[in-house]
Amino acid sequence: MARTTSLIDPAPDIIADKGVTDQNDVPILVQDLTVAYHRKPVLWDIDFSIPEGKIIGIIGPNGAGKSTLLKAILDLIPKASGRILIYGKPYRQQRAKVGYVPQRESVDWDFPVNALDVVAMGQYGKIGWFKPVTRKHKTLAMESLERVGMADYANRQISQLSGGQQQRVFLARALVQDAQIYFMDEPFAGVDAATETAIVKLLQQFRSIGKTVVVIHHDLQTVKDYFDYLIMLNMRIVATGNTSEIFTPENLQKTYGGRLTLLDEAVQAIAREGDRRL
Ligand SMILES: Nc1ncnc2c1ncn2[C@@H]1O[C@H](COP(=O)(O)OP(=O)(O)OP(=O)(O)O)[C@@H](O)[C@H]1O
Ligand SMILES: [Mg+2]
Repeated sequence: MARTTSLIDPAPDIIADKGVTDQNDVPILVQDLTVAYHRKPVLWDIDFSIPEGKIIGIIGPNGAGKSTLLKAILDLIPKASGRILIYGKPYRQQRAKVGYVPQRESVDWDFPVNALDVVAMGQYGKIGWFKPVTRKHKTLAMESLERVGMADYANRQISQLSGGQQQRVFLARALVQDAQIYFMDEPFAGVDAATETAIVKLLQQFRSIGKTVVVIHHDLQTVKDYFDYLIMLNMRIVATGNTSEIFTPENLQKTYGGRLTLLDEAVQAIAREGDRRL
């Protein structure tokens, strides 16, 4: 079948690669997006689409607009212009397909709920806000806590967990959502090496069953290992594409500007990788 062409079709590379026919197969399509806080734009002219079934990294310096981009996709903040489609439709029609793990600092941890409740509430998208959480939902929530090694803390108040434990609880919550696309805002921030490995394994499991995972990430050293595809952002899109093609010193320079200490490390990491391959 011939591929439909229209103005709203800026992702020919993805479409050609996968041999699919239209934007209903594209997990996220962002067109002409501008977002402003108090009339000051923080994201400009953002256009990109992402492929299905990959682990996608969003990288860029502090204040680049990474969290803002996720919030715009999830309709948590208004857009100044542009549109965002999730499998060809606006977010409000696709809510059940989307899971979100917020940046830890942005969560009100004094909210009086225990770990099990936080995970069980992840199913609200499916069971409706005002319906009670049933035994079945609690059982599923408990299974998810077990999968992330947090079953022993099920009855602990969320504010009384360590940062890494809170992060695991939020992953368990993402697990019960059974979404098609997951967005995670810095899931590795402040977690120890074992937790980071556990999270990466979980993301890879998601990928192996065809789910798409979008992760905001800061550690440039691990970018090549973790991500198939990258969005390099600094208020505008610097580059999007396969990590092996676009994670270059030039693009890093464009994304991070003069922050050379950080860049030096990344450039050295890329160079080391090149040496290994030779
Ligand atoms: N609620 C808000 N009101 C006003 N300005 C905001 C608000 N939230 C974010 N900003 C500003 O928008 C810009 C982008 O912020 P955002 O949180 O998206 O950055 P980020 O890339 O996620 O950074 P970080 O790596 O520090 O998490 C920053 O300049 C920030 O100060
Ligand atoms: Mg952020």
